[in-house]
Amino acid sequence: MSTETASSASTGNHTEWMAKKIHSFVGVVPLGVYVTLHLSRNVATLLGADEFDKAVANTWSHPINYVWVVLLVYLPLVFHSLYGIMLMAKSEKTNVFKHFNLENVRYFFQRLSGLGVLGFLAAHIFLTRVHVSMGWLKGAAPAASESGQVTYGYFATHMTDFSKPTLIVYALGVLGTVYHLANGLSTFCISWGITTGKNAIRRAEIAALVFGILLLALGYATIAGFFMHDFTEFVTPSGPMAPDGFLGKLMH
Ligand code: HEM
Repeated sequence: MSTETASSASTGNHTEWMAKKIHSFVGVVPLGVYVTLHLSRNVATLLGADEFDKAVANTWSHPINYVWVVLLVYLPLVFHSLYGIMLMAKSEKTNVFKHFNLENVRYFFQRLSGLGVLGFLAAHIFLTRVHVSMGWLKGAAPAASESGQVTYGYFATHMTDFSKPTLIVYALGVLGTVYHLANGLSTFCISWGITTGKNAIRRAEIAALVFGILLLALGYATIAGFFMHDFTEFVTPSGPMAPDGFLGKLMH
């Protein structure tokens, strides 16, 4: 191999090494931190509609938070997802069947949950953000709250309508997110050299498992909260759940 080829190969390896480290880092900070804070705020559903709506309105009381969410959530999410899909495309997909062991099963579910979380987020962001920006919630009852955000009534109407898959989507979305984050935490520690020996790796895995169980409890308590209190059904000006926005008009 010529010196030039060897040096471009090593630059390529270094870029790949850096990209993998950044991929793992943004999965934990800021995305993991965001999910933990997001679920900790949303568990206000247990306290009732007013408390949940107040908690959401507080998040957006300062417009600068829209800038933070773009910089610390949307941008890292796009990078983490695109690079993750690229790694998935390059990886050996049948390993789990050829060599059936815990490591390979965990890695298989890490990729599967990653795809699931992407699907969940597409639905969730559509429900919480796209509807709002299309003006679909204007004049709806209960109003899209004075803060212009989605309300407890909006979620509860979707969740408790068993003719729609919302509850299943949320139950699986939270499960997939928690697995992806908790399992990702233990591999993050290895990738960043925080855990080196066998014992340290085992301890980090146990800590990640405990964290995962607590986060799952938080997520499921949030969902349960939508079933525990009275709410005013969410009705748009053009009838129950009938979209009045741009996309809604296209679909009807
Ligand atoms: C369990 C029930 C959940 C509820 C009730 C809920 C509630 C909300 C609400 C009200 C919003 C609108 C923006 C805000 O005020 O934050 C939102 C946006 C969002 N949620 Fe959730 N969420 C849940 C689960 C999740 C999970 C598991 C994830 C992680 C994968 C997630 C990620 C996001 C993202 C990325 C946004 C868009 C950020 C933004 O534009 O502000 N959510 N969610």
